[in-house]
Amino acid sequence: MTENLINWNESYSVGNAEMDEQHKQLINIINKLFNSFKDGNAQSILDEILQEMIDYANFHLNSEEKLMFKYDYPEKEKHEEIHQSFRNKIEELNKMLNSGSKDAHYQLIEYLKNWWTNHILVEDKKYLPYLANK
Ligand SMILES: [Fe+2]
Repeated sequence: MTENLINWNESYSVGNAEMDEQHKQLINIINKLFNSFKDGNAQSILDEILQEMIDYANFHLNSEEKLMFKYDYPEKEKHEEIHQSFRNKIEELNKMLNSGSKDAHYQLIEYLKNWWTNHILVEDKKYLPYLANK
């Protein structure tokens, strides 16, 4: 049975349709990773979905940064730094996973869930007044 780790709902909306769509897509990939892990899929499949998540996260973070600069969001530099710390952390975790431990995969999924839900609900919400309906 497919069950979602994270369910997007209106409370996640940051008021910008493009960003909401990208957040939904990220959540889909994290759910896919979770389900694949739960179903005991092979390491190679988990690695493939993880790579998809990293690629999409980078695409999304870059798009969001472009919009923050375009609309001159006052906290854009601080927000960019938060994104950079995510990029660094995920690279570090990705290297750790090459050790092949299932436990490391589970920790990574938990980390992704917590990081993204908190980031969208707290940090991204702050740009809502600047990017809404743009
Ligand atoms: Fe963000």
